[in-house]
Amino acid sequence: MADRVIIVQKANKTVYREGNVIVKEFVPGHPKAGVYNEAYIHACVEQTGLPVPKLISVQPGENGGTALTMAYVEGRTLEEQMREAPEKTDEYLEKFIDIQMEVNSKRVITIRNTRYKMIDAVESLKEIDASTRYELLQRIHGMKRHTKLCHGDFVPSNVILRSDGTFCVLDWAHATHGNAGADAAITYMRFSLENPELADKYLKMYCKKADMAIQYIQRWMPVVAAAQLAKGNKDEEKLLREWISVAEYQ
Ligand SMILES: Nc1ncnc2c1ncn2[C@@H]1O[C@H](COP(=O)(O)OP(=O)(O)OP(=O)(O)O)[C@@H](O)[C@H]1O
Ligand SMILES: [Mg+2]
Repeated sequence: MADRVIIVQKANKTVYREGNVIVKEFVPGHPKAGVYNEAYIHACVEQTGLPVPKLISVQPGENGGTALTMAYVEGRTLEEQMREAPEKTDEYLEKFIDIQMEVNSKRVITIRNTRYKMIDAVESLKEIDASTRYELLQRIHGMKRHTKLCHGDFVPSNVILRSDGTFCVLDWAHATHGNAGADAAITYMRFSLENPELADKYLKMYCKKADMAIQYIQRWMPVVAAAQLAKGNKDEEKLLREWISVAEYQ
């Protein structure tokens, strides 16, 4: 049997490689429906022809939880490559955005709608007052309806890029269909939280490539910040609350 190499270990799961497969094993008690949902989304996206790891199975894990198994994909993530060659940041960002636009060009209406996911997140967020929630919901209702595939967590660690230009997009747990402006706003937020020096560069480059007005993405920012606040990460709270407060006076 192949050796097991742990890639990521988090409170709710472990991701490991064993030979030519990757296993995402969730801890016992982690909702089984969430794992099946991730597998379902992954399978729907696989059908679009977008390069994603081949999904293999969902089955009971060795630890009593649920495990999702997929094919191991050769190559390195854009996060690793950006860290190792900071002088190539612009080149990598360009490719990263081209891939995001290719994702957004796909249509997958069999998965959840972005607006409903955002509405649920805002309605369940009791950490902000009712009037702010109302403003956020109005904002969501005013957004254009689309059916574009939105990854929902499009960050460099979820993209494998090879030297011949071929790529593979990982981690489909958060994907929805809807307005691509929301997908770009999420990526911008994730950069602002984890890699702030890249955030504005990303946003400018995205708007130029997608020929999208920056305001179109900015309108989503209080909304995506509210959805992220619902996840309860204490060290993100200050920035997210600042972003949300914009919704109160616009
Ligand atoms: N099929 C695959 N082939 C090669 N490497 C993979 C594959 N799936 C995952 N990885 C590696 O494992 C890492 C973590 O996987 P993944 O992104 O699915 O989990 P995660 O980021 O912890 O998930 P989440 O965002 O849902 O918490 C990736 O960044 C990548 O390095
Ligand atoms: Mg990931």
